[in-house]
Amino acid sequence: MPIFFDEKNKIFKLDTATSSYIFQVYDENYLIHLYYGARIPDFDLTDLAYRDGSASFSAAPAHIDDYYFSLDAFPQEYPCNGTGDMRLSALAIRNADGNAATDIRYVSHRIYDGKPALEGLPALYANSPDEAQTLELEALDAVTGAKVTLLYTVFNNTGAMTRSVRIENTSDRPMDLQRVYSACVDLPDMDYNMMHLYGKWVKERTLTTRPLSHGIQSIASKRGSSSHQHNPFVALAKKDASEDHGDVYGFNFVYSGNFAAEVEVDFNSTTRFLMGINSTDFCWRLEAGEHFTAPEVVMVFTPDGIGEMSRIFHRLYNNNLIRGRWKTEKRPLLINSWEAAYFDFDTDKLVSFAARAKEMGVEMLVMDDGWFGCRNDDTNSLGDWFVNEKKLPGGLSELIRRVNELGMKFGIWYEPEMISPDSDLYRAHPDWCLHVPDRARSLGHHQCVLDMTRQDVRDNIFEQMSAVLSNNKIDYLKWDFNRNITEAGSALLPPERQQEVFHRFVLGTYELMDRLTKAFPDLLIENCSGGGGRFDPGMLYFSPQIWCSDNTDPLERLTIQFGTSMCYPTSCVGAHVSANSRTGYVTKGNVAMSGSFGYELDPNKLTDEEKAIVRKQVADYHKYYNLTHFGDFYRLIAPTDNTFRCAWGHVAPDKSEALFTVVIIRCPESSAFPLRLKGLDPNKTYYCEALDLTRSGAALMNAGLNLTKMKQTDGESLALYFKAVEE
Ligand code: GLA
Repeated sequence: MPIFFDEKNKIFKLDTATSSYIFQVYDENYLIHLYYGARIPDFDLTDLAYRDGSASFSAAPAHIDDYYFSLDAFPQEYPCNGTGDMRLSALAIRNADGNAATDIRYVSHRIYDGKPALEGLPALYANSPDEAQTLELEALDAVTGAKVTLLYTVFNNTGAMTRSVRIENTSDRPMDLQRVYSACVDLPDMDYNMMHLYGKWVKERTLTTRPLSHGIQSIASKRGSSSHQHNPFVALAKKDASEDHGDVYGFNFVYSGNFAAEVEVDFNSTTRFLMGINSTDFCWRLEAGEHFTAPEVVMVFTPDGIGEMSRIFHRLYNNNLIRGRWKTEKRPLLINSWEAAYFDFDTDKLVSFAARAKEMGVEMLVMDDGWFGCRNDDTNSLGDWFVNEKKLPGGLSELIRRVNELGMKFGIWYEPEMISPDSDLYRAHPDWCLHVPDRARSLGHHQCVLDMTRQDVRDNIFEQMSAVLSNNKIDYLKWDFNRNITEAGSALLPPERQQEVFHRFVLGTYELMDRLTKAFPDLLIENCSGGGGRFDPGMLYFSPQIWCSDNTDPLERLTIQFGTSMCYPTSCVGAHVSANSRTGYVTKGNVAMSGSFGYELDPNKLTDEEKAIVRKQVADYHKYYNLTHFGDFYRLIAPTDNTFRCAWGHVAPDKSEALFTVVIIRCPESSAFPLRLKGLDPNKTYYCEALDLTRSGAALMNAGLNLTKMKQTDGESLALYFKAVEE
């Protein structure tokens, strides 16, 4: 079994396929962390906890007669605020007396097969009870009566585990949760690079790496969404780790709102990593008997480098996060109207897109923003989810009938959590948007944000959406979210609960998504937030694909898709060929093929030559679908390291075929271009038609290819498909 408990020494050991995670119930029932790293056979590693606890004035619990013991120095399993550990805490509870001294001790535990759902929250799931095992550990803060349940699930055959926390107020007085982080990992040294994904609109998820230094370093969002600026992903890679070798810890937060990932290197040069809901602008009131569940963190450890960390995440998310019909069923190849028409369309124009696209083999037309209320630009109508018959005479049913008649499926755009001040909904319910008393309501993109904490608001939006979705044959829905949250207040909550709004907003959105996916289980949902502003595992739970970025330039997309691949599988990365770049259509297709492929252009404007390229891409989409959606992803040349070239590949799990993509970003200084492939079976022989080359996997991975003859000017690319052949 992957989770063990050593009764005698009170030690827990959680083994994944690649890691061991060990902690102990120490004297006085403190929870002491002992080890997280490569899989090992041992249990009793208590001596590893000992640190120099004699920093200036470090306090120690009075009852423990151990010169070395200090909460300020020992590695903790779930550190608390204000009772001795001066580092960043995972938990701070302000009690009814007004202080936030917090101290939890072990009470009991249970270990069972499977994985529980998290109340109101997206979470990884086990397909069968024998796929995962869970430890629920109960601890108590005896003074406040806070019962703290630490949840750990190990996914047996992967390198992954998850952690989350549930807090229950067992006292008869209220308490306020000021900090509730979902996971803490204390590591014994500081020899790590912190890797994370930063960006902005049209530049999401750029990989950046920095060595840890003493003090606190962190990334966070307090924008109300996981954000374009920082993705809730962090890797701590040993300084000698590389793409293919070395110890790497990866952390990803299954949450779509304000988060923080904080790293503190302390006076002993040890590292504490914390991930959870951002404690800024957060405070949660727990009345007697109430409980709170924190979202979960996915933790991956591998001794085999950054690339293997990514592959563990990818397999896990394809298998244990993405759900529903479109998890496995082939998704229709779509064309989206946005970059082709923006708000300027009518039924005939959309039908003409569908007709031309159908001729080239595209399978679904998606009508983007602009179909509802009286919306001809972005200044109005969000919240009025009824069709604009001036644009679409005969309504949606007529448009869909004509699209379906062509043999095409149909998709639609929504921005359910938003409201335009210029809308019927706002005029009827001016208090339905998030706002605080006496302050102006800031506008973003001319819009306000609906108060998703309110049941009446959610009901209204669900009913409006449901009316459209029930009465029309709609196969796909793009769920957008185009601004940050400001003035995060709700008209219905009392003052002491106003700082719950950010989290309640996310819970409200999840509830609406849950309701919608249950009511319309066949609907394919693509998440979006001005491109990839909410590209996180929380959203992946509800939508198997997410629009990666509004930037559809294939060369700029390289960096975005490269960073995204750190933990997200290509199956979920919305990537379209558009007209918006001077780079040729072959390269546009080669880059977008490493994602959830589609088009975003006016097909009437394509030349015959471009149409021929599209037809070939459509055929390739079908040929490579399994590879690009379920293959193992290997990064070969990073666009962040090498500004001239980028290369990556998808290899079938049985290594029978592979697709490698090579792109020239700009003409390199040197034309010599050796490229060693990865992930192949050294003992298989492969044939590549594009190069007319037959060679062993061993040679392709060690001697590599010589691509010097490739045309190496800006925007050139190759898609190299290798098929294993009998010798
Ligand atoms: C966001 C999306 C775009 C498009 C527009 C419509 O910016 O990322 O793809 O849907 O909204 O307003």
